Amino acid sequence: MPNCPASMSQPPPQSKGSVREEKELLVYLPDINATCSVLTILALLSQPTASYVPLCQYQEPFFYTGAHRGLVEKVQKELKSLTAMIEERNRIIALPYPYLSPNHIENSVAI
Ligand SMILES: *[C@@H]1O[C@H](CO)[C@@H](O)[C@H](O)[C@H]1NC(C)=O
Repeated sequence: MPNCPASMSQPPPQSKGSVREEKELLVYLPDINATCSVLTILALLSQPTASYVPLCQYQEPFFYTGAHRGLVEKVQKELKSLTAMIEERNRIIALPYPYLSPNHIENSVAI
């Protein structure tokens, strides 16, 4: 994975421009097994979770009472509007980009 190696197998060169040939560069890159391990982990971590909760959706009741309720509803409305805008834009472009649409973003990170 030369364009995005997860590690280096040697300390970096100390002077700029000292690595000129491909075989010199390959010494710094992780071997194929290390690269496969990283790709496997990235693929696993990129899967949607079974307990997926979209951004600004809460299961805890304290977000649905008092002052919190109005704020949560306001943000949910804005996110819904943004989602609709992104979906509309994705319908007409050649290469849709749904990844940062609010309905595709987890409410929290849990690894
Ligand atoms: C990668 O792993 C396989 C299976 O364990 C092993 O046979 C092979 O020698 C390893 N390759 C490298 C470059 O370490």
